[in-house]
Amino acid sequence: MQIKTLILGAGAAGMMCAAHAGGDCLVVDHAKNPGEKIRISGGGRCNFTNMYATPENYISQNPHFCKSAMARYTQWDFIDLVTRHGIAWHEKTLGQLFCDDSARQIVAMLVKELRDAGADLWLQTSVVDVRHGAGGYTVRLEREGKPITVTAQNLVLATGGKSIPKMGATGLAYDIAQQFDLPVLDTRPGLVPFTFGADRFKPLAGVALPARLSNARASFDEALLFTHRGLSGPAVLQISSYWHEGEEITAHLLPDFDLFSALRDQRQQSGRKDLTTELARHLPARLVEDLAADGSLKGRLADQSDAALQALCDRLNNWRLKPTGTEGYRTAEVTLGGIDTDALSSRTMEAKAQPGLYAIGEAVDVTGWLGGYNFQWAWASGFAAGQAI
Ligand code: FDA
Repeated sequence: MQIKTLILGAGAAGMMCAAHAGGDCLVVDHAKNPGEKIRISGGGRCNFTNMYATPENYISQNPHFCKSAMARYTQWDFIDLVTRHGIAWHEKTLGQLFCDDSARQIVAMLVKELRDAGADLWLQTSVVDVRHGAGGYTVRLEREGKPITVTAQNLVLATGGKSIPKMGATGLAYDIAQQFDLPVLDTRPGLVPFTFGADRFKPLAGVALPARLSNARASFDEALLFTHRGLSGPAVLQISSYWHEGEEITAHLLPDFDLFSALRDQRQQSGRKDLTTELARHLPARLVEDLAADGSLKGRLADQSDAALQALCDRLNNWRLKPTGTEGYRTAEVTLGGIDTDALSSRTMEAKAQPGLYAIGEAVDVTGWLGGYNFQWAWASGFAAGQAI
């Protein structure tokens, strides 16, 4: 079978690309259903883009690479598409847009778009091998157990990253890229909870509070959640993408609140109050209990010197934490690293030294923050390749 374009992966980027590739296009995926990650994303409501998405919200060895594609297919283009399909949506927080009803609407929309554009979709189809010759890319597939060979002028790698292998994530895009001498940067899990040894935070499991988490590379003000195994919540997921094994992060509890002045005022007004009672007005009581367990938060407010209060505030605002690791690809929302952008055209996503080979979406070394940014990259890079094809 001879076609113009073969897209490997019917996820966010692959389907978007097919919708713009101009027909004579086949999308294949080994899963039973297309867009499984879209379906489960955003708690089943899909945080499909972010109103404030800019290239600064992405991590890549080349931070400029995403600019061209992001400028040519913006969040407003995708919002327009969603609205044209009659899908109701709302902003939850920080520019994050979600479906009012279900993420399945986004999947259905993309399937309709690709079919309307004349593309075909084969599910439960695995890739056996890929070769390149005079006729283009010859790909041996196995469709529902039967072998079939497809030759295509263009081959698009859209099989995503390694996160959540249980859902069918594989390193296929990296393997094919390497087969054609495209460099692949080391990958690691991103947007992932931290683990800590020795049940460090077990007594605090379930406690959540707003906090600032930072390291030398980035800083995020969002919710922090203690879990049985360590730390999670949006602030943790965000900083995890900027964290390397063995490093510390700093937690600033009450980052925008002058706790020192508040404690000093209270010492003046109600000095007989216990320090821990007063602290529990500003922080979750279970956290205060845990912090006091080493005997450092004793006595009444009146017993505390300015220096002691200052030391306490410094401790809460400069809490150094050293994760033992992360939950890994098992739960990571994204994969950092991947196909080196140096090998790709930022305008078309085509491999510079391998005509007709394209790479889009999460497989490429462009990773967004938490909050709809990763889908926006999938839409933008899929559109860029589709237009070029
Ligand atoms: P994607 O993973 O979507 O698609 C790849 C496709 O390739 C899949 O259909 C897969 O089955 C197929 N495939 C893989 N290997 C194959 C093989 N060997 N042979 C054939 N097919 C193969 N982002 C965001 O912006 N907002 C959000 O709300 C969320 N929420 C979220 C929740 C969870 C739990 C996860 C894991 C991730 C998110 N994300 C997110 C991230 C987002 O899902 C992700 O960045 C995009 O889906 C990436 O799109 P791609 O098309 O590149 O890969």
